[in-house]
Amino acid sequence: MINRLLVTGCGGFVGGGIVHETPRGVELHAVARKEPPECGGAAAWHMLDLRDRDGVRELFETVSPDAVIHAAAIADIDFCEANKETAWAVNVSVTQQLADLCREHGTRLVYVSTDNVFDGKRGAYREEDAPTPINYYAETKAAGERVVAGMGRNYVVARTSVVMGFPMLGSGNSFLMRMVSLLREGKRVGVPENEIRSPIDVVTLARSLLELAGSRCEGYIHLAGNDWLNRYEMVRRIARELGFSEGLIYPNNPETIPGRAPRPLDVSLCNQKARECLRTPMKNLQDGLRLVLKTARPSHL
Ligand SMILES: NC(=O)c1ccc[n+]([C@@H]2O[C@H](COP(=O)([O-])OP(=O)(O)OC[C@H]3O[C@@H](n4cnc5c(N)ncnc54)[C@H](OP(=O)(O)O)[C@@H]3O)[C@@H](O)[C@H]2O)c1
Repeated sequence: MINRLLVTGCGGFVGGGIVHETPRGVELHAVARKEPPECGGAAAWHMLDLRDRDGVRELFETVSPDAVIHAAAIADIDFCEANKETAWAVNVSVTQQLADLCREHGTRLVYVSTDNVFDGKRGAYREEDAPTPINYYAETKAAGERVVAGMGRNYVVARTSVVMGFPMLGSGNSFLMRMVSLLREGKRVGVPENEIRSPIDVVTLARSLLELAGSRCEGYIHLAGNDWLNRYEMVRRIARELGFSEGLIYPNNPETIPGRAPRPLDVSLCNQKARECLRTPMKNLQDGLRLVLKTARPSHL
């Protein structure tokens, strides 16, 4: 069990989920660029741009955490492709500084990474498969993984897939929220049929990351759901579960969208290690959706 935890990216989707799921009794220090939301709970909130190297060192040394969960990143694939310097500064250089600080102070580091580090030509990726990024976002995340693995010990690289859920602290990069907003307005939704993912709900992901922060598990781990689905099928199941018309959903071909960075096709993740090492159970999409619906606010639906 950890006493003092530092979490980055708390103004975002995954970081917000971690804040929400942190058990009482853990002294939580949440790092974000924006003001704390009213529902931010008992966390000590630190407003900081992580590119401020002096600010990061000062915060780290003041808090002196037992573990860090590093969830901050620029996760917008097309933004990274168009803004490479910014993407590298946030996704790699910030990770390097946190890894250096953790190594220096003997602090455990859990790094949130992505299925997108793989090229998607094969699918069913395991932890030991070598990253083969095909867009700049993925290149920066793979570089972040190498930096963290360079610590040698006391680290976890947790690769995850499409994260399902509503932003529990108000904002962030939520696929489910984008889909529900469109379906609620009765709009037709085009989704790729050729992109296969292993969706995980944000509650399970947050609980797994928290468990990893306090466990002895080392190295790479895939935090992914038990279902491997293409996005079209995924959204049909979401619509069915939430009572929207499946007729609004159609398969499209996103390669024709100008300016869209390449996406890997099949980046399904094998989650066997997570199922064997963690107490937190990995779920299928339906059970994951039911879990996040319990935490949804009326404004989400
Ligand atoms: N969501 C998914 O489906 C998914 C799938 C696979 C992997 N991941 C990984 O999960 C992690 C979290 O992603 P997310 O979905 O939660 O994305 P998100 O909602 O965009 O959250 C990322 C957070 O990082 C913060 N951040 C960015 N640059 C920063 C800086 N310079 N200083 C301080 N904070 C900064 C952002 O702050 P602002 O709010 O101020 O911009 C944002 O709150 C990422 O590492 C991503 O690669 C996510």
